[in-house]
Amino acid sequence: MEKEFVGKIEKLSSDGRGITHLDGAVVFVDKTCPGDICKIKIIKENKSYYIGELTEIIEKSPHRVKPFCPMQNVCGACQLQYIDYNYQLELKKEIVEDAMRGIDIKIDDVTASPQIKEYRHKIQYPIRQTNVSKRILAGYFKQKSHDIINIKYCPIQPAICDEIIEYIREQAPLYKIEGYDEGKHKGLLRHVVMRVSAANGDILVVLVLNSEKVPERIKDFAQKLYDRFEKVVGITANLNNKKTNLILSDNTVLLYGQDYIEEITSGVKFKIGSNTFFQVNPKSAENIFNYVKTYISSHHNSPDILDAYAGISTFGLIMADISQAVTSVEENKYSVELAREVKRLNNIKNINLYCQDSEKFFIEEIEKNKKYDITILDPPRKGCSEKSLEYALKLTKSQIIYISCNPATLSRDLKYLISKGCKIESIKPFDMFCHTSHIENVAIINVSK
Ligand SMILES: C[S@@+](CC[C@H](N)C(=O)[O-])C[C@H]1O[C@@H](n2cnc3c(N)ncnc32)[C@H](O)[C@@H]1O
Repeated sequence: MEKEFVGKIEKLSSDGRGITHLDGAVVFVDKTCPGDICKIKIIKENKSYYIGELTEIIEKSPHRVKPFCPMQNVCGACQLQYIDYNYQLELKKEIVEDAMRGIDIKIDDVTASPQIKEYRHKIQYPIRQTNVSKRILAGYFKQKSHDIINIKYCPIQPAICDEIIEYIREQAPLYKIEGYDEGKHKGLLRHVVMRVSAANGDILVVLVLNSEKVPERIKDFAQKLYDRFEKVVGITANLNNKKTNLILSDNTVLLYGQDYIEEITSGVKFKIGSNTFFQVNPKSAENIFNYVKTYISSHHNSPDILDAYAGISTFGLIMADISQAVTSVEENKYSVELAREVKRLNNIKNINLYCQDSEKFFIEEIEKNKKYDITILDPPRKGCSEKSLEYALKLTKSQIIYISCNPATLSRDLKYLISKGCKIESIKPFDMFCHTSHIENVAIINVSK
């Protein structure tokens, strides 16, 4: 039996769905805003919750706005664009508060992103083609599907990216470059990835190819693309002929120009390559780096810092001039190689860079009786293992600064640290991913010995 009811949306879930209740059970409803009164059809029943579908808005939340992107309703990228930005920030604070339930801490207000349009500086477009006319399609996948939306205009990324993608759409067929067919694992061009510098607007274009080597026609095509756009400072080919959802393989070949862009963040000049982890919203990331740096310099005098899950050692390199020494550990060898170059480029002497699994590195440091004043942890979404936390704790004299893009795993890890005697001093959210439900947090943790 189909159930339909009228409900008022109360809040947002951590994945950006509206929440209301029916007979005491939670109902998740996509594309709704807290304050909406709406008709909702139950489309799925689980043991403890329902999934509902919005069928009619009876009374709109006062926080609803017209999305600035015409594709918002179909594209999976900016789920919350129909909610005014300041209210998005309030909702994200609530998401963090919900995740931290059980931890005695007041969550700070969310620091807004300095840009809410054109903020995204890493673009990854899957490339397909139409069956009959063989037109090239480039865009994002529809929500929860692999159907592509051919995006001609995306206001959350620098406008020049639209021009480059349009040029690729037009020119690729002239060079007999086919879009990728995922089902048949055929067709040459799988993805176009772009890295754009927020500092100078330079662009690195990566052509991801379903091929073992770079065909001549790709070289000719890349030459034309390189000559056409002054801001494109490099084009690389990434050879990825595996049946995989991973966008980039380890095999990248430079075609024209340079294989990196330069980014300047918190006074340090970075090099970012096709495979380098660097925050997609550099201006918001800079707010985080500056916050952490200001905190450390006002609470510590030239501390010894361990920077783990370091990527290209952004934190370590930025903190070097207020530290006695920095030790940085990251498992991705390309990131560590780039960090070494950045160290040279900026003439930073007091940082040691290690390419290793963090947990193994921590064990070796404990065996050497090493101690750090501060440990910075910035793990991937899955957070840290208990062992890593236990070892990090053993290595840290004063504070752990934990940067996290996933409130759920941050909460789990904080609870573990609290159970080992730590005190949470603060949690400060930063909006890096405007119009999505994602939120970055910086937790300052006092280690009691
Ligand atoms: C969220 S990123 C943070 C990067 C960096 N701190 C930054 O702000 O750009 C997480 C990093 O952890 C690295 N990583 C993941 N698991 C790791 C492990 N077990 N040991 C060392 N590094 C790891 C990833 O390669 C990635 O660079």
